[in-house]
Amino acid sequence: MSLDELEQLLTDAPERVSGSSSLDDLERLEGDLVGRRSLLSELRRSLGSVDPDQRPVIGARLNVIHQELTSLVASRRSALELAAENALLVDESVDVTLPGARPARGTHHLLTQTMDEVADIFRSLGYQVAVGPEIEIAWYNFDALNTPETHPSRFESDTLYVESFDGEERSGEDELLLRTHTSPMQARHMEQHDPPVYVVVPGRVFRSDTWDATHSPVFHQIEGLAVDEDITISDLKGTLAYFVREFFGADAKTRFIPHFFPFTEPSAEMHVWFRGGWLELLGCGMVDPNVFDAVGYDREQVTGFAFGMGAERLAMVRHGIGDIRHFYENDLRVLDQFR
Ligand code: PHE
Repeated sequence: MSLDELEQLLTDAPERVSGSSSLDDLERLEGDLVGRRSLLSELRRSLGSVDPDQRPVIGARLNVIHQELTSLVASRRSALELAAENALLVDESVDVTLPGARPARGTHHLLTQTMDEVADIFRSLGYQVAVGPEIEIAWYNFDALNTPETHPSRFESDTLYVESFDGEERSGEDELLLRTHTSPMQARHMEQHDPPVYVVVPGRVFRSDTWDATHSPVFHQIEGLAVDEDITISDLKGTLAYFVREFFGADAKTRFIPHFFPFTEPSAEMHVWFRGGWLELLGCGMVDPNVFDAVGYDREQVTGFAFGMGAERLAMVRHGIGDIRHFYENDLRVLDQFR
């Protein structure tokens, strides 16, 4: 155990230090070089037994050696740490240019899109949007709408009645049913709001129809109602013509064919000229004064018009869809065409 040996160790140290390939390796080597059991530490501890004349010289040399060894280890440590950090960066790097995995994106159903679009067109004219209950009482679905108890649409062959769920026997105006149209919201809305009223009502309606290419026991309508002072049939025609141009395009033409609805007088069917043919689109008319009586409006003060259109019908005409069942079968090959 001598200073010579230590000098040799110092000479060999750079190679050993640079040969350590990991931080763990380097730590072990550091222990060997400058740790408590190292040659250096032993020599330091034995300094007391060295000739007092030599002691400062040897002591100073030991300090220099300690410093050199320590700085060797320190610079190797920072090199290894840097390398480890770079390796980690490479390892965990993300290639932002790789195309991502695109999650399948949903869309609103064509019927929802259609009803939203219709509502938006009327909103742009200042109409409000309201919704109402799907289970109705006969009063709103029929009586308030001037539809007598004997009217054929009230027969069970057309209307789906709902059994009493609270044990209460209901008959006549009080009977429960699935609304056959969105028109009951005309009465409900007028009961709740003083004139003027400008409102559209999208919603689901039910009829006791057999499912085929043009019928479904459940379908959708958008009701419209405008009540104000001095509303005339010109307002009705102008409003619906505007709607049709917005929905079908500037070239779409309209015609009105006389018709009958209990709650409008006069009543009409509106047809639209689209893709080379006249297609029936909706029912409409001037609000029958009896309806104003039923909801507590003064028939001398106001006039109004109303209309109701089938959402399926609108979409079928616009997109040339030939079978109403496509709307409900949820076949993605169909739905994907209307994103
Ligand atoms: N409710 C009628 C139907 O379902 C349509 C309609 C609404 C007609 C409003 C006139 C006025 O056929």
